[in-house]
Amino acid sequence: MKNYNITLLRGDGIGPEIVNEAVKVLDVTAEKYGFKVNYTDALLGGCAIDETGVPLPQETIDKCKASDSVLLGAVGGPKWDTLPGKNRPEAGLLGIRGALGLFANLRPAVIFEPLKDASPLRADIVGGALDIMIVRELTGGIYFGERGTLVENGMEAAYDTEKYSVAEIERIGRVAFDMAMKRNKKLTSVDKANVLDSSRLWRKTMIRLSEEYPEVELNHLYVDNCAMQLVRDPKQFDVIVTSNIFGDILSDEASQISGSIGMLASASLNSTKLGLYEPIHGSAPDIAGKGIANPLATILSVAMMLRYSLDEPAAADAIERAVSEVLDTTRTPDIYTEGTRKVSTSEMGDAVCALIR
Ligand code: IPM
Ligand code: MG
Repeated sequence: MKNYNITLLRGDGIGPEIVNEAVKVLDVTAEKYGFKVNYTDALLGGCAIDETGVPLPQETIDKCKASDSVLLGAVGGPKWDTLPGKNRPEAGLLGIRGALGLFANLRPAVIFEPLKDASPLRADIVGGALDIMIVRELTGGIYFGERGTLVENGMEAAYDTEKYSVAEIERIGRVAFDMAMKRNKKLTSVDKANVLDSSRLWRKTMIRLSEEYPEVELNHLYVDNCAMQLVRDPKQFDVIVTSNIFGDILSDEASQISGSIGMLASASLNSTKLGLYEPIHGSAPDIAGKGIANPLATILSVAMMLRYSLDEPAAADAIERAVSEVLDTTRTPDIYTEGTRKVSTSEMGDAVCALIR
């Protein structure tokens, strides 16, 4: 029987509750599809700061590197908000991405049919087939560039730098072109090439790469225009590829358009099969411990893990099917509508498990 080792980074806020449900679902799926999963816990974010003084202990990096895949809940919360930049929970998240070389971040923004009224956009704009895959570069650019604070003319100043090499652009470009080949063969590269040198290199490199993918229709948008197009006509997009900072911003926008922020999963991949899977939403400290958090994004992150890291596509399909089915009848408070059953975090996990069994 196949055996997979998964590191769990439960994190902060609602992280532990939603990871519990995802583990429940993964165990039931494993039993049904004939594989076994072993779990190891490791600390990341605020809980790591509390226990070890740092947001990303070396032990966590070692455990993640030794596993087949990593499942993350969420990190951060008001308790750690006043810490200096490099000691914050977010630094742990950026650190683990860097340490594992997770350069490719896949963020799908899809509308679940039963939740189609939840989008803040009119039904004629989003209705039917909103299914966007944002491919965000995750270990380069301004979030990892040189930065500093200094005193200039007697006044405090600070700077951050955006820098990309051809190699960095090519490897994220390949992930995006490959993704487009598996989907509708349409790729939008987003940059700010009318202003930034790094964007001009980005665009030139994407154009050169496109020669290797003659079937993919490549177009380019400036990031400000893309932000506008996402609300004007989101259905024009298939795959979007962009830099770390632009992808951070546009993926939040796209997730909100889908109306399903509590439903969206993500994958962060390196050049091996090792990946880190996490819901797109944050740690929601205001509802932590109340048993009302929606675990479906984390459960769907497990489906992505099965698909991209563990090569268990049938098991991934089963989870995705169960999630779309469960929505017909069963809802956590964030997505509740009249006529459905309002359930707790763990009841939602149980309902998904029941459909998989
Ligand atoms: C995200 C988050 C992180 C990021 C923060 C918490 C560092 O916003 O995953 O999108 O900017 O990458
Ligand atoms: Mg973000």
